[in-house]
Amino acid sequence: MDYFLMYLGIAAFLGLLTHYSFKFLKHKSLYPFMPFKYNFRRRRDTFAKTLQLLSERNAKNIVETGTSRNGLSATRGDGAGTFVFGKWAMENNAKLFSVDINESAVKECSVEVKNQELQDTVTVVLDDSLQFLDAFEETVDFLYLDSYDYCRVDTDIQLKSQEHHLKEFMAIESQLHKDTIVLIDDCGLPGGGKGKTVVPYMEQKGWEVLIDAYQILLVHQESL
Ligand SMILES: C[S@@+](CC[C@H](N)C(=O)[O-])C[C@H]1O[C@@H](n2cnc3c(N)ncnc32)[C@H](O)[C@@H]1O
Repeated sequence: MDYFLMYLGIAAFLGLLTHYSFKFLKHKSLYPFMPFKYNFRRRRDTFAKTLQLLSERNAKNIVETGTSRNGLSATRGDGAGTFVFGKWAMENNAKLFSVDINESAVKECSVEVKNQELQDTVTVVLDDSLQFLDAFEETVDFLYLDSYDYCRVDTDIQLKSQEHHLKEFMAIESQLHKDTIVLIDDCGLPGGGKGKTVVPYMEQKGWEVLIDAYQILLVHQESL
């Protein structure tokens, strides 16, 4: 009986150890830039490379389409880009504009912007991204395309999302320069993801893919 309990205890311990080891290995943090508890999963490596490029290229103006509608709690789901790049912008004397067509997304994000004390750095705008980008007069040093929600199964939504992201790029293209960094979210998905139509267009215009993963990261070949 004593042996039975001992073996049971060891099995339970090993089970827990395996469980937490797997959890630890799947936890992709941006520590020390962001607290360790935030798991950025499939976006961690592209976010990390983008943050490195932002510093190297001394970015000052950041534009994001599609705002962090669930605040900072959705690092695993939506990515919480507004807060990752907003924090970088605050620490580096830059500005971030995040545009969203959905009123509650803008409200939710604005509350978290205040919680994070980013209100002097991050401007959350309620507008259609195409209209906003078309009217944007400053140059853009980092463009993060992540609006029109993509769907894994509905091909009609997939096409509309892909077309929308191409239109977004075309609407702001004249404000980009040779050192601009472009990141496109939700690309590694069935049907090609948000980047399927815009990336070939960009490549024709001299943009080069640096990372092709769940997100696609591009810079202009003249900057390499
Ligand atoms: C995936 S979420 C953005 C996530 C955010 N970038 C992040 O990193 O947490 C997509 C957002 O795009 C917004 N959206 C959809 N169509 C849009 C449009 N035409 N213009 C602006 N925003 C749009 C949605 O309202 C939604 O909040």
